[in-house]
Amino acid sequence: TFVVTDACIRCKFMDCVEVCPVECFREGENMLVIDPNECIDCNLCLPECPADAILPDIESAATPWIELNRTYAAIWPAVSSNAGQRPPDAEAFKGVAGKYEQYFS
Ligand code: SF4
Ligand code: F3S
Repeated sequence: TFVVTDACIRCKFMDCVEVCPVECFREGENMLVIDPNECIDCNLCLPECPADAILPDIESAATPWIELNRTYAAIWPAVSSNAGQRPPDAEAFKGVAGKYEQYFS
């Protein structure tokens, strides 16, 4: 399955949602996660993310975020291409370190 990492936090560009054929993204206040039970490993979302926030779970950089995706996918609502808004300051948070500690919600 694919995993959204902390790089998404406060960026939430939403380009991923546009291409996912199975609508498996779930939306929290500051980031999205992928429902591991729904993702079909198509790889369409990964190249679309301007923040490079999406990784396949087999990559070591994805490991710390696997459980977070699983946990919140069961709690947060689905997001469709028509729902959700990119934050106006999304660009300012691209590549910023420590976003999980400061801004996760
Ligand atoms: Fe959706 Fe494909 Fe990305 Fe999985 S890999 S979240 S199915 S676009
Ligand atoms: Fe987040 Fe990238 Fe999607 S920043 S909302 S994973 S396009």
